[in-house]
Amino acid sequence: MLIFAKISNKLSSHTGQIRRVHQSLGQINTNEGQQRNFGQPTPLTHPHLVSKGHVLPNISADELANRREKLSQLVIDAMKKKHSDIKSHMIVIPSASKSYMSEKIPYIFRQNTDFLYLSGCQEPDTCLVINVNPEKSRHHSTLFMRERDQHSEVWDGPRTDPSEAVHVFGVDEARPVWDFSNYLQKQAKERPTSLWYDLTLTPNETVSSAIRDYTKNTKGKVWDSPKSLIHKIRLIKSKAEIDLMQTSCDIASAAITKCMNSSQPGINEHHLLATVDYESRIRGAEFLAYPPVIAGGNRATIIHYVNNNQLIKDGELVLMDAGCEYHGYSSDITRTWPVNGKFSKEQRALYEVVLSVQVAIIKMLANRVSLDKMFEEMCLLLGKGLQEIGLTPRTTSLQNTIKDAYEFCPHHVSHYLGMDVHDTALVNRNIGVQPGMIITVEPGIYVNHLMKVPKEYQGIGIRIEDDVLITDGEPIVLSSKCPKSIAEIEAIVTNARK
Ligand code: GLY
Ligand code: MN
Ligand code: MN
Repeated sequence: MLIFAKISNKLSSHTGQIRRVHQSLGQINTNEGQQRNFGQPTPLTHPHLVSKGHVLPNISADELANRREKLSQLVIDAMKKKHSDIKSHMIVIPSASKSYMSEKIPYIFRQNTDFLYLSGCQEPDTCLVINVNPEKSRHHSTLFMRERDQHSEVWDGPRTDPSEAVHVFGVDEARPVWDFSNYLQKQAKERPTSLWYDLTLTPNETVSSAIRDYTKNTKGKVWDSPKSLIHKIRLIKSKAEIDLMQTSCDIASAAITKCMNSSQPGINEHHLLATVDYESRIRGAEFLAYPPVIAGGNRATIIHYVNNNQLIKDGELVLMDAGCEYHGYSSDITRTWPVNGKFSKEQRALYEVVLSVQVAIIKMLANRVSLDKMFEEMCLLLGKGLQEIGLTPRTTSLQNTIKDAYEFCPHHVSHYLGMDVHDTALVNRNIGVQPGMIITVEPGIYVNHLMKVPKEYQGIGIRIEDDVLITDGEPIVLSSKCPKSIAEIEAIVTNARK
């Protein structure tokens, strides 16, 4: 190793170190000229994934700094509303820690989304601090990183050392994570500081114990959680994020279409799970965004069916709810198709109701309605559709129409979508949608065997779910490449059998 071995990690000359690394990162080599890897892909090591000036695929260092600046402004505004005269604010966002499925066997690591959104850092047991002082022109960001450690790196792979982190992530400063507790206490002693930290977060032990020491030793107070402010920013997607979401939806659409295409009576749900997973990954997705629902026949009436281990019989429908994660951005799509390629009369009748409701609700989005308003409308339209087929009584009040529909579709019609599947969960669903938001539209009808309806309808479960971008004009269906008309679906499934 040419350069890093020469860099001491002692804090005394920290700034100097950062500058030296910054200047020399382009020439980092390990033994025999082999390039050194970091804790995640970088433009240097993975130019096919991350462009120059970017920290993550399609996300630039400037965009990350902008997000931190927006959060700083929201904190300043919130403190003004509290009529506080405290001038110094510190926002602490911990990364996730690794978790284990059994002794020494880790789960696939997934970063704390808020931390990833603000730092671009994919490493566990690290922490971001954003210092905000309204009298200074902008925020100051510090990443607390694990130092390099030869033994750990043999087992778990390379890390990004604090001395490299300024360059890799575009933050203002980086320090070793062991220094976090001292740093916190020192800041609190120097000047009155409001600390923004989410006490309900899954503990990153290094960070949560430092916060405990801070409150104990300095009698410092944790003012509030920054989570709802972060969600407010994450709600509106940037152009770069929309592009990533479009690709995520394109990949999932193609993968689900492949599943339709390879369906035939007798196929195992598990086979379709393997197909959607494989077809997503070979197109560049890291993994599926959630355990998919792949439900043949009456399993489709179980909303969260994830066993996915039964054979799908001739004449049954398949309900697949699947999406992928593409460089941190999730798609969430549901399609329902006949495993033999031909909808029965009853399946077709219910499918047509769900599809017409879904199309009508997507149209409503041009009027900037709220997600809750869409839900109300879904219940009303579904209720009318069910009455027309004769599954619910016709002569009833509006209120009963809605109530009856809710029996057949006991879930909401929409949620926000983005880095998380149920994205920005702290944003209320009663606000009107705005350009830049991405939401799902997912009505369904689930007829279980306890319902008093003709036998031919029992055991049918149908959901159609698309991912929709709100714009200044008409909404854009990002998952439009996934077929949903009866004619298209029947053609795709039957082609597979020729
Ligand atoms: N796949 C989870 C959902 O649709 O909300
Ligand atoms: Mn879904
Ligand atoms: Mn959904």
